[in-house]
Amino acid sequence: MEYYEHIVKNRNSCRQFTDTKVSDDVLNELLTYYEDEESVLIDGIATELRFYVGTVWDELKKCVGYNGKCIKAPAYMVIFSEVTDHYRENAGYIAQGLTLKMTELGLAACWLTINDAYGVKAALGEETDMVAACVVAFGYRDPSDTAKKADKKSLDEMTDGFRYGEDIDTDLFYRDLEDGLRAIAHAQSFANKQPYRIIVDHDQISLIGLPDDETNENDRRLNYGIVMFNFYAVMDAVRSNPPKWSFDPVTDRDLGLPADVTYVAKCKL
Ligand SMILES: Cc1cc2nc3c(=O)[nH]c(=O)nc-3n(C[C@H](O)[C@H](O)[C@H](O)COP(=O)(O)O)c2cc1C
Repeated sequence: MEYYEHIVKNRNSCRQFTDTKVSDDVLNELLTYYEDEESVLIDGIATELRFYVGTVWDELKKCVGYNGKCIKAPAYMVIFSEVTDHYRENAGYIAQGLTLKMTELGLAACWLTINDAYGVKAALGEETDMVAACVVAFGYRDPSDTAKKADKKSLDEMTDGFRYGEDIDTDLFYRDLEDGLRAIAHAQSFANKQPYRIIVDHDQISLIGLPDDETNENDRRLNYGIVMFNFYAVMDAVRSNPPKWSFDPVTDRDLGLPADVTYVAKCKL
């Protein structure tokens, strides 16, 4: 409850930052979280976390940010990843953990769409073999930022019961599942499109991707990683053995999926 209310629900994207520098102590805290505490979605995918403080905006703006706009911030975080199955979902999951850690540390953040992943490496002077999988601008929110919070899908709109499109009987929710599902409904997504849905069953939930012409492949998969982390993190706060997501197919039941939607992953409860 507390983690959902204070961290997940409390955060919102920031597009206006103060000039205050993010200190080395704070960057080290984020790095320590990434190295020592954070859970990953898939074991064994090599990733690297890098921070860029100061003057990278002029170069970065050529290759990140939707609507031709790269948010100006005192710092940027990039997750570089090995390219393998589900590396983008894994990077999104890791970066979301860091974004929520930033909320805990009093920082504000905004994800940025990558328009040219090779350009990001060139802009940042990186020669790694890994690919730039996600970019997040961060720093301290300018108190004069009065942007209204984005409206999110309700739990009813986000969840189905047993099969796609079927109403959910809310009495079937496990008591501790509700905040996890709300954390999914509250997650960041490209342009707040939220092109996904959850099918809830007694023993598992399934993440389903909805068609959306505007969200590109990279952001679509980052979106999935973000919602998977949000669910995991809220469940981790209330259970000693939090459920883990799996990309294995669902073979033991019919989710009733129409042709234009995609099964993404499942999480055994
Ligand atoms: C993968 C991804 C890419 C995004 N790209 C941008 C971007 O380029 N520019 C921007 O201003 N916001 C971007 N956002 C932020 C979303 O617009 C924001 O999360 C959404 O509107 C919901 O608002 P909230 O984060 O305040 O809940 C992105 C978010 C995600 C998850």
